[in-house]
Amino acid sequence: MKRTHHCNELRPAHAGQTVILDGWVHSRRDLGGLLFIDLRDREGRTQTMCDPTVLPPDVFDRASRIHSESVVRVTGRVRVRPEGTTNARILTGEVEVIVDKFEVLNDAAVLPFSIDDPEIANKVNEELRLQYRYLDLRRPEMARNLKTRSKVAIAIRSFMDDRGFLEVETPTLFKSTPEGAREFLVPNRREPGTFYALPQSPQQFKQILMVAGVERYFQLARCYRDEDLRADRQPEFTQVDIEMSFIDREDIYELIEGLLGKVWKTALDMEIPAKFKRISFYEALNRWGIDKPDTRFGMELVDFTEEFRASSFKVFSGAVGGGGVVKAINAKGLAGATQGQLETMTEYAKSFGAKGLAFIKVENGEWKSPIVKFFTPAEKEALTAKLAIQEGDLILFAADQWLTACEILGKIRLYCAEVLKGQGKLVIDPKRFDFLWVVDFPLLSYDKEMNRWYSSHHPFTAPVAEDIPLLKEDPKRVRGQHYDIVVNGVELGGGSIRIHQPDVQKTIFEDILAISPEETKLRFGYMLEAFRYGAPPHGGLALGFDRLCAILCGTTSIRDVIAFPKTAKGTCLMTDSPGPAAARQLRDLHIEVKAAPPK
Ligand code: AMO
Ligand code: AMP
Repeated sequence: MKRTHHCNELRPAHAGQTVILDGWVHSRRDLGGLLFIDLRDREGRTQTMCDPTVLPPDVFDRASRIHSESVVRVTGRVRVRPEGTTNARILTGEVEVIVDKFEVLNDAAVLPFSIDDPEIANKVNEELRLQYRYLDLRRPEMARNLKTRSKVAIAIRSFMDDRGFLEVETPTLFKSTPEGAREFLVPNRREPGTFYALPQSPQQFKQILMVAGVERYFQLARCYRDEDLRADRQPEFTQVDIEMSFIDREDIYELIEGLLGKVWKTALDMEIPAKFKRISFYEALNRWGIDKPDTRFGMELVDFTEEFRASSFKVFSGAVGGGGVVKAINAKGLAGATQGQLETMTEYAKSFGAKGLAFIKVENGEWKSPIVKFFTPAEKEALTAKLAIQEGDLILFAADQWLTACEILGKIRLYCAEVLKGQGKLVIDPKRFDFLWVVDFPLLSYDKEMNRWYSSHHPFTAPVAEDIPLLKEDPKRVRGQHYDIVVNGVELGGGSIRIHQPDVQKTIFEDILAISPEETKLRFGYMLEAFRYGAPPHGGLALGFDRLCAILCGTTSIRDVIAFPKTAKGTCLMTDSPGPAAARQLRDLHIEVKAAPPK
């Protein structure tokens, strides 16, 4: 005797049939002597009804004492629900099953939190949900997220297969490389004092696969980074990792536009643009103050450097005189901000290096601000015209070096959108998706404290060909052949055309990044060696698979789309890991632990 249907299958057409359903007791209600039990499985819910005049008294009694989330098997007859008792919110809402056999397959203990409450994510603290993750995952919303993730993974594999890509697994016991985030180390028992490192990404292996003639590689790759965690970062996460030979940037754009088209169709049954807009890194910062702009709403940064070059407001003219800029945004509808709110906003701006956050509130036809007295009529006119100032607006200024001013207003712009959202003013349409390629990143950035250049992305990124001569004379002007794919202000992925000539790669490591020849040999020697034997020109990209799923599932936390995520402290509350190692294990590994044992 096995189940005949799942819990989201029965419809009025099944009326009269005898069926068997297996599932969890989602809820139980006593109504006028009848017992209604909603049975739930992965697919959905079905209402069952126990009638004391039909069931033997002991069976009815057992059913009436059943705990939520117990596992039961129900045999019964399908009937169309009486008029007025249908439930339009579920697909089985027009029918119910009149129980004639009720078997308890397993009793559930009293639950740490209730699962049938749709508001649970807001009410129960996430730590408790993570500790009992198997219960949390039973919630329909989480089950739906896991399903979407699985469907998207399969769609990606099938798309990549259609395009001639090979899925190749690369090692997760790798070696330490100095680029990027801090790594997780794994001690090597066979040679005390040596360590594997868990890979931050399969970057080096996928490039070697190109040398190996694979031509088109992809992998749903597990990556590990020991960095500070946030809602969109986990210590282990998954990338859709891609690499191709004999291609240029356009080929990658075309591939990813097609891939995301298929993903959006699969997950949301939605058509997205066949081609995505492209903007330069400079434009992204200049207009939105961030390299991953959310272009679903306005409030763009507007430049007033020329207008305020000779301003009698010294904060502005001083900044311009010092080679800086004056920029402003119009936070429409925020003129009602209180003194306290403006102070909070200013403090927030200062945490990103702002010296202040000058403002103008436009209220009752008046410009309210301690700095208006400095403005000439021409300056006021320019502000009104370029910011389209109207009643109810709040204008916010940053006067600083270009990058600092842009970044400050970029943060404030997002902050204002949140404040407006909190006030119930919808500035962002949650159903909209804005896809963007951000290109022309600087290849190198300068670390003032360390007094050296470092790769903006990673050291394998090829410079834009025409900028190669600038490498030695003016490194900051060299653009990298790097691209980021941005969706709704989230950096979904990034990649680049790589350096495939060993001499250029060696120049980058040794002359630009100042890695010593010994270190280069130790860390990357095998790569430079491989490049000597016919490395094809190649490039690729990696999408953050967890971030992709989070966007598709409409959540801002990737924890919601990972079956067993870690907390912000990097722990798994369900299994209580990481934990101490046994003395014998440590002895075998030749490891002496100096820290006090954890409590
Ligand atoms: P990058 O470091 O930009 O590139 O990573 C690619 C994408 O992976 C996602 N991601 C993360 N997701 C969750 N948690 C994290 N801690 C985390 N870190 C990164 C992001 C990011 O855009 N090897 C290169 C790719 C290449 O050049 O081909 C790389 O790893 O969505
Ligand atoms: P002050 O003249 O320093 O009292 O500043 C007057 C206003 O200008 C205050 O609202 C400050 O927050 C703001 N302010 C100060 N420095 C800057 C700056 N660099 N950019 C934008 N606003 C500033």
